[in-house]
Amino acid sequence: MATTHKLIIGNCMSMEEIPDGSVHLMVTSPPYFNAPFDYKGLFKSYGQYLGVLRNFAKETFRVLQDGRIAVLNIDDMLINGEKFPIVADATKIFQEAGFRYRDKIIWKKPDGYLRISRRSGVMLQNPYPMYFYPDNLLESILIFQKGKFNYRSISEEVREASKVEMKEFSSGKWYMTLWEMNNVMPGSPLEKDIAAFPEELPYRAIKLFSYKDEIILDPFVGSGTTMKKARELGRNSIGYEIKKSLVPIIKKKLGFDGQDTLFASLNDKFEIVYRKEGRYGPIR
Ligand SMILES: C[S@@+](CC[C@H](N)C(=O)[O-])C[C@H]1O[C@@H](n2cnc3c(N)ncnc32)[C@H](O)[C@@H]1O
Repeated sequence: MATTHKLIIGNCMSMEEIPDGSVHLMVTSPPYFNAPFDYKGLFKSYGQYLGVLRNFAKETFRVLQDGRIAVLNIDDMLINGEKFPIVADATKIFQEAGFRYRDKIIWKKPDGYLRISRRSGVMLQNPYPMYFYPDNLLESILIFQKGKFNYRSISEEVREASKVEMKEFSSGKWYMTLWEMNNVMPGSPLEKDIAAFPEELPYRAIKLFSYKDEIILDPFVGSGTTMKKARELGRNSIGYEIKKSLVPIIKKKLGFDGQDTLFASLNDKFEIVYRKEGRYGPIR
């Protein structure tokens, strides 16, 4: 069946284009708090950052169907020697929005991962006590649920069409709370200056928590990784992105730039809505 993908260029603190209870799964990674390499100036304070998470959590709760899941890839942030407890704060914020905290998976990047500067290097220069800051190879994947899922609401046909391959589940060790996944290499052409997550992350989330033909939401689209995997897996998608300048990248990644041959035979639809400038409008 053909799928539909809708990109809204605007701020996800309001998801007014989406009716209540109409989305089946949310998968996202919010912007880093004050990451110096790509979001400089987006947040004036940690309090303001948490305010964005609060609005986005409330809106996610509203648009999700009862029983459905929100998957949040997020991590604590070290700035000038102070660690901001973003994972703990985001968990509390999602609970306060009405979600049940269902689980936490740790994503481990390969040893030698390099994106932010190597903190442990300080010890090489100063091999003395008190200089220790470890390199961070981990991120959290938080799983929240809105109420209880009614397994009987899915037809036998859709259930079978959405079956999880046990071979893949076992060999990829999806069953553990530790997922070892490669990160996107800095400087990859489509994800340049975007802190993109690996395709494997939304791939697993979509397979584990949604059925064919359902609607997947990513409120912080970035390069469009979640929407791309939704398309590949026969799901529909809705995404929000505040930066207008990312539109060509997202179109290309999803295969809607007119150049794609992989999906050429499908009748999938792509729609872009540009919000008006203003409080919840786009930037740049
Ligand atoms: C960490 S990136 C997401 C990367 C994405 N998972 C990928 O694989 O490419 C976060 C994105 O959220 C966007 N963003 C930040 N604040 C936003 C907001 N309030 N509403 C919508 N998008 C926002 C940023 O411009 C950035 O592209």
